[in-house]
Amino acid sequence: MQKVTIQASRSYDILIGSGLLATLGEEARKFPKVKTVCIVSETNVYPLHGAAAEKSLTDAGFKVVSYVFPAGEESKSGETYLSLLNFLAENQLTRSDLLVALGGGVVGDLTGFAAATFLRGVKFIQVPTTLLAAVDSSVGGKTAIDLPAGKNLAGAFYQPSLVLCDTDTLTTLPREIFLDGCAEVIKYGVIYDRAFFDYLKETGPGFDREMVIKRCVELKRDVVMEDEFDTGNRMKLNLGHTIGHGVEARSHFLLSHGKSVAIGMAMVSRAAAKKGMLSQEDADAIQEILADYGLPLRTEYTAAELVGYMLSDKKRSGGTIPLIIPTEIGHCEIIPTPVEALTAFVKAGQ
Ligand code: GLY
Repeated sequence: MQKVTIQASRSYDILIGSGLLATLGEEARKFPKVKTVCIVSETNVYPLHGAAAEKSLTDAGFKVVSYVFPAGEESKSGETYLSLLNFLAENQLTRSDLLVALGGGVVGDLTGFAAATFLRGVKFIQVPTTLLAAVDSSVGGKTAIDLPAGKNLAGAFYQPSLVLCDTDTLTTLPREIFLDGCAEVIKYGVIYDRAFFDYLKETGPGFDREMVIKRCVELKRDVVMEDEFDTGNRMKLNLGHTIGHGVEARSHFLLSHGKSVAIGMAMVSRAAAKKGMLSQEDADAIQEILADYGLPLRTEYTAAELVGYMLSDKKRSGGTIPLIIPTEIGHCEIIPTPVEALTAFVKAGQ
């Protein structure tokens, strides 16, 4: 088992290893005064891992209730959020009780936001069951729901009390979902660590999962501890996301987050190479690794269409959007880009 500790507004451990789901109850016991635990999950994940999570918690002496919502991004809504809060209230959870987010990014973000706001804040444990959630969304305290106007538009920074990542749960993932997580894994290599990038290039998707999750989480820990509230260097984690969100939204969420981010990374690399900010060799290497992992590099949507969706980016401030530009593999810069210059930049990446 691997352990990474984050010291932010709340200090917590991220445990990574095989068989950890069975230790959920024992880990939850470490938090004093908890009597009732609410497992929050969705209809794809709960049938696979719900019983194991419930057993571990009941064996440890907790009263357990479970709230299971339909799988999919559409559930990350105000309706599901309010319905979950009502479920917690009806089941009389108190401030000293605990939520468990059992699932991928949708479950983690929604549960985290409910935990941040129910009774003005209750503890929650993230139990990520997708690679994407394990390496990114379960760590660092970003919680949110979507609004009709866009993704993640209502939320809070609210750190979990523990992240328990059982690598066995990743073996049940459909290949497509696993590859989505690979886009985020590759992203860490491009932003921070050429040696890690080279390792991922050499192994392909058969990499050592425990080691890779640990490395991603260590990199994320360092930036979250430096910039928990995302006003500076944490924005680098958005490499490929600004254009990627445009692609994802334009596809009406039919194209997955990971594939959209892969397209965003490839486009930003091509544009950076054209503008002389990144060597052609590194731009080619970034595109090659994405292609080797079976991820897409291009979209047929026009630059004008994408920019229309990119303008709702949360990080837009005044007349600029911060674009994350790779300047070499292992290093990125945050470049505030005037809204008027976005279309030309996106065109350069097509
Ligand atoms: N997913 C990007 C971040 O946590 O900042």
